[in-house]
Amino acid sequence: MGHRSWMRSQGFTPEVFDGRPVIGIATTWSELAPCNAHLHRVAESVKRGVWQAGGFPLEFPAMALGETLLRPTAMLYRNLLAMEAEELFRANPLDGVVLLSGCDKTTPGLLMGAASVDLPAIMVTGGPKLNGKYQGTDVGSGTAVWRWEEDLVAGRMTQEECFFAEACMSRSDGHCNTMGTASTMASMAEALGMQLPYSAAWPASDSRRYETAQRAGQVIVDLVNSDLTPSAIMTREAFENAIRVNAAIGGSTNAVIHLLAIAGRLGVPLSLDDFDTLAADVPTLVNLQPSGQYLMEDFCYAGGLPAVMRELGGLLHGGAITVTGRTVTENVAEAPCWNRDVIFAMDAPFKPQGTGTAVLRGNLAPDGAVIKQSAASPHLLKHRGRALVFDSQEAYYAVVGDEDLDADENTVLVIRYCGPKGYPGMPEVSNVPLPKKLLSRGVRDMVRICDGRMSGTAYGTVVLHVTPEAAAGGALALVRTGDWITLDVPSRALTLEVPDEELARRRAEWTAPPPAASRGWTRLYTDHVLQADTGADLDFLVGASGHEVGRDSH
Ligand code: FES
Repeated sequence: MGHRSWMRSQGFTPEVFDGRPVIGIATTWSELAPCNAHLHRVAESVKRGVWQAGGFPLEFPAMALGETLLRPTAMLYRNLLAMEAEELFRANPLDGVVLLSGCDKTTPGLLMGAASVDLPAIMVTGGPKLNGKYQGTDVGSGTAVWRWEEDLVAGRMTQEECFFAEACMSRSDGHCNTMGTASTMASMAEALGMQLPYSAAWPASDSRRYETAQRAGQVIVDLVNSDLTPSAIMTREAFENAIRVNAAIGGSTNAVIHLLAIAGRLGVPLSLDDFDTLAADVPTLVNLQPSGQYLMEDFCYAGGLPAVMRELGGLLHGGAITVTGRTVTENVAEAPCWNRDVIFAMDAPFKPQGTGTAVLRGNLAPDGAVIKQSAASPHLLKHRGRALVFDSQEAYYAVVGDEDLDADENTVLVIRYCGPKGYPGMPEVSNVPLPKKLLSRGVRDMVRICDGRMSGTAYGTVVLHVTPEAAAGGALALVRTGDWITLDVPSRALTLEVPDEELARRRAEWTAPPPAASRGWTRLYTDHVLQADTGADLDFLVGASGHEVGRDSH
C-alpha cells in the first residue's frame, strides 16, 4: 500500500498496479546535451507503445553526456553513466528498461549498465540530424566548422555569415549526421541486436523515429514476457557481427573501446585483435563522411543498416537473436537498397577489404594500438621518421605556429599523457593539426602517435590508443625527441628504435605524474580505470551483478 499510495500521487489509476510489467525508460535528455535534447519527446512515444502492449511505463533521467560542452572530455564520464544506469536499473522495481541515448558516450554508457544488470532491455537512439544545408551544398556536423573558423580568422567569412552558417549546419534535432561516433554506436546497437532494425538511421525529426520509439515500447513488454535479456542477445556472435558491420560502414575507432567495454560487462571474450582479424575480409560498403561523401539522412533513404547487413550476408552470424525475437537473417532478408551510390554491393564495394581498423604491436605499444587505415595516407602506412615529442596537446599547440619548429614531412609527432589516466579520460586529441610551416609548404598529412582517441569524424595517419599509455608507464613515456620510430601497418608493427638497455635506463629515471585529481569522481576514475586495450572501464565495474538487489554473482 505504501508503494502504491506514493505512486498514485502522480494520478495513476489503481489498475496499473495489477502486476503488469513495469518498464523503466532511462532518458539521457538534457538541454546541456543538445544531441539528446529531444529525447523527452521520444520517451512519450515509447510510453504509448508500453501502454499499448499492457505495460506500465515510468520515465527517469540518467546522466546526459554531451560531447560539445563537457570538460575535459565526455569520455571521462562514460563509466559514471554506466555505473549510475546499473544502480538505477537494479535499485528500482523494474521488469525491463528502454534506453534512450544519442550523443556519443550515452549509447555505450547505457548499454554497459544494462549489460551488468541483465534485465530485458531495448535501445532507442535519438537519430541523426537532418543534412546540414548551406549555400546549396550538404554540410556534415563537425566537418565544416573547422573550415569556417579558419575562414573567419582569415577574413574570408564575416561573423554574421558564420552565425548564419552554424545554424544551417545544425538545423534539426539529433546527433552528428556523419558516420562519426554517435552514428557508429547507434549502428553498433542495431548490429548487436539491441535496437530495432532501421533504428540507427531514421533522422531525429523524421516521423518514423517516433514510430520506431512507439514500437520499441511494445517490444520491451514482449521481451519481459519472454525473458529475453541482453546477455542472450549480446553474445560473442553478436559482437563479431558488430565488428564486421563497423568495418562495412567505415565506423569510428571509438567503437573498439566501447564494444570491448560492453563485452567486458557480459563476460564475452573479445580482444583488441578481433577488430583486425574479423574485419580483414570486410570491404567498406557505405559512402558516408568522413570516409566518403554522404550523410546519415542519405544513408536512411538508401536503406539504412539492414541493407548493409543483408549485403554482408554470410559474413554475419545470421542466427544471432535480436530484440525483435527474430534472427539477424530474418530481420534483414528482404531489406532493399535504394541507392548504390550510398550503399555499395559486396561485389563492387566502395573500398576494398583490409582498409578498416588495424591493430599494431611492438615495443612502443606492447598491448596494442590502432590505426584507421581508410583515414590514413597510403604513402605513410610504411614510414620511418624521427620523433618530435610533446607531453600534452597544449605543449604542441604552443609551438604549432612556429616557423622555426624543427620538423619536416617525415617527422613523427608524438603526443602523450592523453590516455585514460593521463589526461584524464582519453580525449579525442590525437589528430593534432600539422605544423603551420609544413601546411604552408603543402604537406597534408604526417604520422602522429598518441595514447588518446580520435574523433569519428577525423582524418589522418594517426596511431591511436597506444597501450600502455604514458601515464601508466608505457614505452610511449620513454620516447625522446630525435628517436627513430618505424610504422609498418602491413606488418602491424610499431617500433621505437632504441635498444632495450637504453629504454631500461630511461625507465629508471621516469617518474609517474601525480594523479589528475585528489578527490571525487576523477580520483576514483584515475585510480581504477583500465587501459584502452580492454575498453577503459573501471576495474571494479567489469562483469555483471545481475538484477537482484544485494546479489553479486561475481
Ligand atoms: Fe553529440 Fe556529435 S556532438 S553526436
